[in-house]
Amino acid sequence: MIRSVVRGIGSSLPRRIMKNAEFEKLVDTTDEWIVQRTGIRQRHIASEDETTASLGEAAARRALDDAGLTPDDIDMIILATSTPNNTFPATAVEIQERLGMRHGYAFDMQAVCSGFVYAITTADLYLRGGQARRMLVIGSETFSRILDWNDRTTCVLFGDGAGAVVVEAAEGEGGLADRGILAASLRSDGTQRDKLYVDGGPSTTCTVGHLRMQGREVFKHAVGMITDVVEDVFAKAGITADDIDWFVPHQANKRIIDASAKKLGIADEKVVITVDLHGNTSAASVPLALTAGVERGQIKKGDLVLLEAMGGGFTWGAVLVRW
Ligand code: UT7
Repeated sequence: MIRSVVRGIGSSLPRRIMKNAEFEKLVDTTDEWIVQRTGIRQRHIASEDETTASLGEAAARRALDDAGLTPDDIDMIILATSTPNNTFPATAVEIQERLGMRHGYAFDMQAVCSGFVYAITTADLYLRGGQARRMLVIGSETFSRILDWNDRTTCVLFGDGAGAVVVEAAEGEGGLADRGILAASLRSDGTQRDKLYVDGGPSTTCTVGHLRMQGREVFKHAVGMITDVVEDVFAKAGITADDIDWFVPHQANKRIIDASAKKLGIADEKVVITVDLHGNTSAASVPLALTAGVERGQIKKGDLVLLEAMGGGFTWGAVLVRW
């Protein structure tokens, strides 16, 4: 059977690093509060010349280099983002153009922080359905552009960045030993959309709007939603938490990550953490953490890797990959 195998990975972060202490001059907060409540110590913030498209392109080029491929070898791009360069066309086609691709097709996918998990699950279906042979799946965000910089309850939490993978169709045996995507579970619930949303848009306010979040409410639901989809993936694959080599969760809050890992029975030393360095980068968070896990020498070929994310919508999902 066809398996969707990750062949290359890369990331890109804006030049400017903003430490927690800088927020002490902007809003009524402290480095201590931010570290204790979230685990975040710093985040990268895009300068004027850095956009979702430019960061996504840089991450894509690194993933292609890592795979030993060029844009000519790619026939499809999915970009997960909630902060596109423009309302339309899709930022994915701008990345396609920046990469010099005049073939294939590209589109954006919008599932907020779950965007990358949705996109890689979609990529798997396209590859297994024979609609593409080799794809770029990118998560890229510039959330700094939609933050209310006077709102201490949200502005300290988010950052900018991008991560990308090259995924290609390969023959597998159909078992757990295959490399590639082995199982996935996606969910959404629109009744919860007022808990985390942007208060503007082309069809309502004709503005871009700002991110609004009832943080405590999101926190309350997060661990339950995450563990539900992960347990679904475990059941689909016929495995338990002990079989996992690496857990790469969405990086929103260290306390949510710790509580999810504990509830699932995943040991701390198997969890990849980047929230301290990047903050919450929404759809970029999982591929940024994956890249860090590979570059740190944690994730190696053949490892069983569990990805998970949850965010606005609500949307949530988990994916199991043999690296
Ligand atoms: O990626 C999408 C998913 N998003 C998330 O996963 C975010 C989920 N939520 C969270 O991570 C947490 O709820 C937060 C980090 C947003 C907040 O942590 P919390 O422990 O839930 O704090 P809280 O909202 O209950 O607020 C506690 C206090 C409040 O003051 P009072 O009402 O107790 O007087 C807040 O006003 O902390 C106050 N507060 C702050 N204080 C200093 C809120 N933000 C700040 C701040 N600095 N930046």
